[in-house]
Amino acid sequence: MSEWVKSGWRSKPRVQMPDYTDPEALKAVEAQLSKYPPLVFAGEARTLKKELGKASRGEAFLLQGGDCAESFAEFSADSIRDTFKVMLQMAMVLTYGAKVPVVKVGRMAGQFAKPRSAPVEKVGEVELPSYRGDIINGFEFTSEARVPDPARMLQAYTQAAASLNLLRAFSKGGFADIHRVHSWTLGFTDRDEAEKYRDMANRIQDTLDFMAAAGLTAETNHELGTVDFYTSHEALLLEYEEALCRIDSTSGLPVAGSGHMLWIGDRTRQPDGAHVEFCRGVQNPIGLKCGPSISNDDLKGLIEKLNPENEAGRLTLIARFGAGSVGDHLPRLIKTVQEMGANVLWSCDPMHGNTIKSASGYKTRPFESVLREVQEFFAVHKAEGTIPGGVHFEMTGKDVTECTGGVRAVTDEDLSDRYHTACDPRLNASQALELAFLVAEELSGHPVASEAAVG
Ligand code: PEP
Ligand code: CO
Repeated sequence: MSEWVKSGWRSKPRVQMPDYTDPEALKAVEAQLSKYPPLVFAGEARTLKKELGKASRGEAFLLQGGDCAESFAEFSADSIRDTFKVMLQMAMVLTYGAKVPVVKVGRMAGQFAKPRSAPVEKVGEVELPSYRGDIINGFEFTSEARVPDPARMLQAYTQAAASLNLLRAFSKGGFADIHRVHSWTLGFTDRDEAEKYRDMANRIQDTLDFMAAAGLTAETNHELGTVDFYTSHEALLLEYEEALCRIDSTSGLPVAGSGHMLWIGDRTRQPDGAHVEFCRGVQNPIGLKCGPSISNDDLKGLIEKLNPENEAGRLTLIARFGAGSVGDHLPRLIKTVQEMGANVLWSCDPMHGNTIKSASGYKTRPFESVLREVQEFFAVHKAEGTIPGGVHFEMTGKDVTECTGGVRAVTDEDLSDRYHTACDPRLNASQALELAFLVAEELSGHPVASEAAVG
């Protein structure tokens, strides 16, 4: 394979990227970003890779989640805190059920660029370029807003830096202390889910009391008082990624400084395309979205390119086929991986294959389809004797009504109540928790709540 340079993607075919109209302005932004500090550090990306390696062997489990797209307008400490709380709750449920450590990776602090299924958006007679995420252009339906503006990259960097700063503080500063397991519940969480969670939290509390009596506290064991939390986003806007790419002083190898883990989207995974070219050269853990259109040969070529050393934890295959289709595709891809003897972590994204337009006109995802895809994913792995090592969700700590269904049954008509997403519909806190209980049940082979009941 040819030698890698961070600008090598520029000579490859690219899709889903904006055509900036002012090359000088673009260059100036890139020059500025190249001088800024990286947001994450090589050692952290290496640690994450090790953790993901464990998940690929069933010794840990990956929980990746957050916004479909972060927005400049909705940026606030509260929204970061609430998403973080939901992630902590989900992680607690999964750890409790699966009895393995949960690797927590946010779709946060960098998830600003969106691939779109159509290059233009039409409202009535007016046709404008599609919104591509706040790092590229504006959501407002005006021709000015839709012009790609490179200066947005600087704002995205600043927002990512501030978000990460807060996430680091939450992770290490006492907020995530396991003794606070009760405090992460959000006020509006559905009663059934909240009760189930409280029941589990009580049991954890009992164990903690016992451990404290035996001399194990957050002071003596810092694992109890802090968590490791990582960031990830789709590596879509390659000018931004290249500008934040740095050489790791320990290994002398290139590392993406924009987030701990990057993934390649289902629309940008052309084996000879720009996105694969960029990602193959950075040392970070890489995710690859696998939708129904990926062929076995594509996957084989992509694995060879993205993980030539067959390193554990380097490559996460994120299956997103849609409920009812997992059985048609996952077994053939698992077979391809097995024939290659490739080390991969299998994760399930039950969101992106299940997007529909509701009768009321909103883009939504029926919660039942989301659940069903997760169940199908686990069933295929069980049948194949392989390891379901993670899940990938779009969720939020806000009390939104974007996905239909769930215990508190959001209906088609409810969607207009609190539909806040700029892109894809997200699970709200109750739905996310319900899903975590289901995944925990799949992982442990029995319901987490009833296990608690029999003690
Ligand atoms: C996403 O994760 O937001 C996304 C667009 O996913 P996919 O590439 O799988 O469609
Ligand atoms: Co999305």
